[in-house]
Amino acid sequence: MSDQMLTKGRTAVITGAASGIGRAAALRLAARGMNIVLADVAPELDATAADVAKVALGGVDAVMSVRTDVAKPADLEALAAATYDRFGDCALLMNNAAVRVKGGQDESMDDWYRTMDVNFWGPVHGERAFLPRMQAAGKEAVVINTGSKQGITNPPGNVIYNVTKSALKTYTEQLEHRLRSEPGPRIAAYLLVPGWTTTGKDLPKPGAWSADQVAVFMLDAIAEGQFYIICPDDDVTTEMDNRRILWGAGDLAEKRPPLSRWHADWKDKFQ
Ligand SMILES: NC(=O)c1ccc[n+]([C@@H]2O[C@H](COP(=O)([O-])OP(=O)(O)OC[C@H]3O[C@@H](n4cnc5c(N)ncnc54)[C@H](O)[C@@H]3O)[C@@H](O)[C@H]2O)c1
Repeated sequence: MSDQMLTKGRTAVITGAASGIGRAAALRLAARGMNIVLADVAPELDATAADVAKVALGGVDAVMSVRTDVAKPADLEALAAATYDRFGDCALLMNNAAVRVKGGQDESMDDWYRTMDVNFWGPVHGERAFLPRMQAAGKEAVVINTGSKQGITNPPGNVIYNVTKSALKTYTEQLEHRLRSEPGPRIAAYLLVPGWTTTGKDLPKPGAWSADQVAVFMLDAIAEGQFYIICPDDDVTTEMDNRRILWGAGDLAEKRPPLSRWHADWKDKFQ
């Protein structure tokens, strides 16, 4: 089992924790008895922290919320300092905050910079602020970065979002490779890849999983030590995901055009 550190008395830090998947993970980990640090920019942050405190085995004393803009390295540094001042520990860092920007290459540079700042640089800032402290503590721990299937199969359309998530996948693979060969208690990295998930204030979306289903799937996968945590949903099975991923890799190996799955000459073959 690889999740022994996700236990009573240890501490989980989650960015983008005010809603959706981050919130669901906070609720699950609080119910295991972990201390929870919720970080977000959203006004709902304190209300979510109150909900988490209701299920936390340690009650309100085990929960802290810190307004944090993950795009700002100083905010992550302040989050790490506050976490270690209060709990002296971080067993789980979940870099989960993200923004979704629709549109392609021609969107404004402000959209490009802001989305990269949150979705890609946010997790890097998180790792830079927390990992040295986690390593100095000499205890087992995990870093989870929330990616997306869009960062793997690269469907046409939302170019900016896809680029940020594909960069995060590459970064997280490198992080885990590095951590795997470091001496001392194991700190493991994971790439969480949710499927279609109902989050935020959305009504349940047909075919989508709930955020809680994603959180449970994630914790089960960590227990099994699986780096790639690729969630199915009610429409897309693991078998379908595997075929899509292999088809994308086949574009390179079989000299098809990129994104051939959506290309007029190839999409029927894929189907
Ligand atoms: N919902 C899906 O279908 C889906 C699918 C694939 C991947 N994801 C990923 O899952 C993660 C969680 O998203 P969600 O679906 O739960 O959405 P969500 O909107 O419910 O949660 C995202 C949270 O991030 C916060 N946030 C945004 N910018 C921030 C910043 N600069 N600093 C701190 N917090 C910030 C938001 O306030 C929000 O609370 C994201 O990384 C998203 O890309 C979601």
